[in-house]
Amino acid sequence: MNDKKIILSGMRPTGKLHIGHFVGALENWIKFQDDYQNYHLIADYHVLTTSLDTSTIEKDTLEMAIDWIASGINPEKSPVFRQSKIKEHAELHLIFSMLITVSRLERNPTVKEQVRDLKIENITYGHLGYPVLQAADILLYKGNYVPVGEDQVPHIEITREIARRFNQTWGEVFPEPEPLLSNFARLPGLDGNAKMSKSLNNAILISDKPDEIKQKLRKAVTDPQKIRKNDPGRPEICLVFTYHKKFNSDELNEIEAGCRSGKLGCVECKLKCSMKIIDFFSPFREKRASLENRIDDIKDILVMGEAKAREVASKTITEVRENMKFG
Ligand code: TRP
Repeated sequence: MNDKKIILSGMRPTGKLHIGHFVGALENWIKFQDDYQNYHLIADYHVLTTSLDTSTIEKDTLEMAIDWIASGINPEKSPVFRQSKIKEHAELHLIFSMLITVSRLERNPTVKEQVRDLKIENITYGHLGYPVLQAADILLYKGNYVPVGEDQVPHIEITREIARRFNQTWGEVFPEPEPLLSNFARLPGLDGNAKMSKSLNNAILISDKPDEIKQKLRKAVTDPQKIRKNDPGRPEICLVFTYHKKFNSDELNEIEAGCRSGKLGCVECKLKCSMKIIDFFSPFREKRASLENRIDDIKDILVMGEAKAREVASKTITEVRENMKFG
């Protein structure tokens, strides 16, 4: 398209996104929009690695696309597309699967964690190989950078190894992509869990209405030693303080001093925090509300993104086949 460096970002379609997705990922994607050529992939095939229930996949895909666009992704500039609509992903995945060993994939810490957390007794071939599909996602578009969280860094390393192996075997086709880590760590959940997640039921959604946000924050876990208003608190262990850091940096010193001295009670602190979050996401909510009424336009946006992505992907596959002498 032009000579800008390429960023490939991707997410599984999990439906409506939470504010942790915004802080950990979307905010970065948007920031990079002008200086890089971005591709935004909806990793719908990746959903199959952990669930075969595909009954809500279309709805979840559209909800996520709406959140992306409401947050400021410009789909005219940066194609937004479904992985499963571009067959070249499957083709490149097949070729890449010959370039990496089973034992290398079994050493992948992220898959090991999933196996442990989801109590998987026998992992499928596709689940073990999901970083290989991810490598195809990235390299089809010759991505130079991939914005990811810590947990995905091992997959970028696998992508680099596959790129190197391909290039050594059949000639230079692929770059060796690098991860771009978000400079703001993930937001903790409302229950104090280190990770905000819809499945843990501890999330504030980008689409939550002001009252819902207030109500959710009211129940948030705070410093267990601060029981009454005048008890001194420890902001460093309080998740609400982490939210203030992100959404209320102007008042941070005041909040910190108030909490430590005991002058500021949790009820008031949480209310201040809700108001900031409500304000921060207010333009997103408005844009989302109007997009929700234009589902056909969203579908058209995906089809448009897929046409652009397909053009790039098919060029890469032609190059791959030529280098491999498949013609
Ligand atoms: N593997 C990522 C996840 O599980 C999603 C993903 C698929 C992805 N393909 C990608 C992320 C390409 C970045 C680039 O969440």
